[in-house]
Amino acid sequence: MEQAVLSIKNLDIAYGAVTVVHDFNLEVHAGEFVSLLGPSGCGKTTILRTIAGFIGAASGEITLAGEEITKRPAEQRDVGIVFQNYALFPTMTAFENIAFSLRVEKRPNDEIEKRVTEIARASGIEEHLNKKPAEMSGGQQQRVAISRALITGTKVLLFDEPLSNLDAKVRVSMRQEIKRLQDHFGFTAFFVTHDQDEALAMSDRVVVLKAGKTMQIGDGRALYTKPANSFVCQFIGDANEVNGSLAAQLTENAVSDTIYIRPEDLLISTGQTRGLQAKVNHIEYLGALVRVECVSEGSSMLVSLFSKDCPPDLKTGDSVSLTVSKGAWHSFSEGGDNQ
Ligand SMILES: Nc1ncnc2c1ncn2[C@@H]1O[C@H](COP(=O)(O)OP(=O)(O)OP(=O)(O)O)[C@@H](O)[C@H]1O
Ligand SMILES: [Mg+2]
Repeated sequence: MEQAVLSIKNLDIAYGAVTVVHDFNLEVHAGEFVSLLGPSGCGKTTILRTIAGFIGAASGEITLAGEEITKRPAEQRDVGIVFQNYALFPTMTAFENIAFSLRVEKRPNDEIEKRVTEIARASGIEEHLNKKPAEMSGGQQQRVAISRALITGTKVLLFDEPLSNLDAKVRVSMRQEIKRLQDHFGFTAFFVTHDQDEALAMSDRVVVLKAGKTMQIGDGRALYTKPANSFVCQFIGDANEVNGSLAAQLTENAVSDTIYIRPEDLLISTGQTRGLQAKVNHIEYLGALVRVECVSEGSSMLVSLFSKDCPPDLKTGDSVSLTVSKGAWHSFSEGGDNQ
C-alpha cells in the first residue's frame, strides 16, 4: 500500500483542561483532496492548526512524508497554509506576498525573483505581481495565496475555509479554480469547511466531524447513501426523521426504530388509500424540481420530486398519500451502525 503523505494517529487536542478533539485518525495520500467538514466549533481549525504546528497535541502522532513531526516547531514542518479570506498582507504587492517566506529564510534576491516569477507564471498571475491585494480580483488573490503557500516547495496545503466570506456564485468558481491549481501543481489538499456542498464537490474523501469526534470518513456517495449514523444522515443532505406509527404507515412495515428518509425517496400520490395519509402544506416550484411539504398527525415531511413527475394540479390543502421506495430508508442502532 502506498505510504500516506500525511498520517494522523490517535490525536487528542486540548485547550487547558478541556479536550476538544478526541482520537482523530486520518491518512491522506499523495495528490488526494480531503475535506474536514463539520458544524461551527467542532474542532476543524484546531486540527488544522495542530497539523501546522501552531497548537501542540495532547497525545497521538502526526507523520508527514514518513517523518514524525508531532513535536516539531511550525517553521520546520513542510506544509503550506491558505487562510480564511486568503489573509494576504494588504500593504504588500502580490510579488512580496508570494516572496514572504523566502524573505524570512533570507534567500538571495535573484533566487527570490526567479522562484516568484516561475510560480506566478504557473498560476497565471504574472502580470499582476506589482498589484496590492485590493487591486486584484478575488480569483487573482486566491492564486496569490496558493502561490504564497506553495513557494517553499511544499506538496501539502492546508486550507482553512478560504472561501467562507465570498458570495455563493464566486465560491463555486473559486472552488473550481482551486481544483485546477491542484491538477496543475499536484499538491495534496487538506481542506477545512463547514459547507457540505463545497466538501462534496471538491473532495476525494470527506471527514465528518462533530464535537471533536469523527462521525464518518468516505467519499460523497458513501456519506449520502450509507451514512454511518443519524448525524451524518441529517448533516449530508436532507432527511425526514420519522418514528412511531407514522413510520409503520409510510413503510407499510412494522418498524419500531426512528427512520430517516431522503425527500426524493418519498413517493406522493393522490387518490390512494395505502401508505400514510397526509395534507399538502406548502409547494415550492424550483424549475426542474418541486419540493412539497406535507403534514400528517402534526409531523411535517418534505418530498422532493422532478417537476415532470409531479401531479400538475397538486395544490396546498390537497389530501395525498405518501409511501417510500422499498428499503429506501435508514435506521441506526444505538451503536450508530447503518442497517
Ligand atoms: N484558543 C482557544 N482556547 C480555548 N478554547 C478554544 C480556543 N480556540 C478554540 N477553542 C474551542 O475549541 C473548540 C473548537 O474550535 P475550532 O476553532 O477548532 O472550531 P471550528 O470547527 O474551526 O469552528 P468554525 O467553523 O466556527 O471555524 C470550540 O469549542 C472553541 O470554543
Ligand atoms: Mg474554524
